[in-house]
Amino acid sequence: MAKVITSVNELDFGFGDLRSMPVPEKVLLVKPTFFSVEYVINPHMEGHVGNVDKLQAQNEWEHLRSAYEELGLYVHVEEGQRGYPDMVFCANQSLPNITEEGEKQVVMSVMYADERKGEVPFIQKVYEESSYDIVHLDSSRFNSFEGMGDAIWHHQKRLLWGGYGFRTSKDVYEIISDTFDTPVIALELTKPKFYHLDTCFCVLDENSVLIYPAAFTDEGLELIRSIFTNVIEATKYEAEKFFACNATCPDGKNVFIQQGCVDVNHKLKDAGFKVHEFSTYEFLKSGGSVFCMKMLLW
Ligand code: ARG
Repeated sequence: MAKVITSVNELDFGFGDLRSMPVPEKVLLVKPTFFSVEYVINPHMEGHVGNVDKLQAQNEWEHLRSAYEELGLYVHVEEGQRGYPDMVFCANQSLPNITEEGEKQVVMSVMYADERKGEVPFIQKVYEESSYDIVHLDSSRFNSFEGMGDAIWHHQKRLLWGGYGFRTSKDVYEIISDTFDTPVIALELTKPKFYHLDTCFCVLDENSVLIYPAAFTDEGLELIRSIFTNVIEATKYEAEKFFACNATCPDGKNVFIQQGCVDVNHKLKDAGFKVHEFSTYEFLKSGGSVFCMKMLLW
């Protein structure tokens, strides 16, 4: 039965009631061969059309790729596709799940912008080759859904955090909750620069999250604080300029983050996390950074 929670008084479970989920062991990356800024579909892309240094982008991406390998994750690299300059942001075209029985499922996205719709079938092929059960949403029932850009798994728990307002419609979470048999905590996004949940919300471990508070409503913040006991806050400067919250912590210990997040990094280290800084400057021009340049898989 679908369970979508939008305020704390609807919360009828506590952290202890959540079922566990395995940590992902694989990471999907898409080569930035055709990455560029060719259109403007978020505020960060303004002024950057035609302004990407391709060689630099390639180098930045290679560093990330080797860091995932060093962390011990199995890295699956997919080719980019001509005509799809945003395909490198492979957190957006899908949302994978592993059931309690260990079966792998994936919900394919319905991209908000026409420019990105054609990326989805290429990513679907990766799942077909890895024997995932593929689920297509009935897009006549809602407008759009941008995968793990907006729907983020809690660390090792069967709980989804679902952002909505810019790229994903709130209604889709009823279907996702049903399909994955998981509760969804829906968080409304309020600022266009933080158009995906992964631009302002980064799950670090079971108890810790890194957020940019101004991107949420009061109800949303209350929900976040009712589940996470350790809420680390990014400043406006680091959240906007360096995409501090678009970090990733695949194992609950090591945080990969855009370089320059001095304040956030202090807070992360004080909380016991190991910080690894990366340059993703070319990708910031498109409104993305570390988190959305990968997809974690089982
Ligand atoms: N230019 C891409 C877009 O606007 C960037 C996507 C970044 N992805 C993310 N999950 N934040 O769609």
